[in-house]
Amino acid sequence: MTAQRIDGNALSQILRADVTKRATALKAKGITPGLAVILVGENPASQVYVRNKVKACHDSGLHSLLEKHPDTLTQEALLDRIGALNQDTSIHGILVQLPLPKHIDAQKVIEAISPAKDVDGFHIASAGALMTGMPGFWPCTPYGCMKMLESIGYELKGKHAVVIGRSNIVGKPMALMLLQMNATVTICHSATQDLKAITLQADVIVAAVGKRNILTADMVKPGAVVLDVGMNRNEEGKLCGDVDFAGVEQVAGYITPVPGGVGPMTITMLLVNTLEAAERI
Ligand code: GUN
Repeated sequence: MTAQRIDGNALSQILRADVTKRATALKAKGITPGLAVILVGENPASQVYVRNKVKACHDSGLHSLLEKHPDTLTQEALLDRIGALNQDTSIHGILVQLPLPKHIDAQKVIEAISPAKDVDGFHIASAGALMTGMPGFWPCTPYGCMKMLESIGYELKGKHAVVIGRSNIVGKPMALMLLQMNATVTICHSATQDLKAITLQADVIVAAVGKRNILTADMVKPGAVVLDVGMNRNEEGKLCGDVDFAGVEQVAGYITPVPGGVGPMTITMLLVNTLEAAERI
């Protein structure tokens, strides 16, 4: 059996068309949804990410403001900028691209963003809202994974979902979202013993470690749904995920490719969150 691919680009197109439609309706009421993107320093990967986010805003009819700062920017100056953007009525979402330079305390910066504008969903208020099932912004990558499961009509209730990785950005919020949909959830991480014994029991596997080939065909139950959050480079410099795609594709029921899977969905959910921040005004 060859797995069906869940196409993140195709699903993004559908969801982004809806964002554009709703943004147009807001504009008719005099509100243009706006996202501020802050980049500190010269990290090449971050530069690509912020460029893609700003372009996606433009393509979907959202206003965006890109602020690039040198890596000499002080924490105090960054906190001042966030304070000003919290007050700026043309801005509904604020995103500070991570990682930040070492002299800046990233958590302190995130906590300075108003939870009403925390479209990345990284603020502890957003994390607490997700944990307790209250309204709030969900982190974009796991939120995108949930939309991918929804797009195939997958019923999570009673299923065993295994998340590999426990980051605050993906692994932990992913587990909470799956739990909210009544899956039985296991979180695996670097200290997990016998990862394969656990993944073989899974109906859904989310690989979010940042390591190539963390999941191979012998670790997957036939028919399982495999979502690949990894963004790595192989020996030839080609983008690849955490999953051995060629092998796992032969066993899984559904699989997300890299590129063209979860990646575009992350930006799509950022647009959705920004739009919703503006709609909540
Ligand atoms: N760095 C890597 N991924 C992300 C993300 O989703 N948001 C922000 N702000 N920084 C990141």
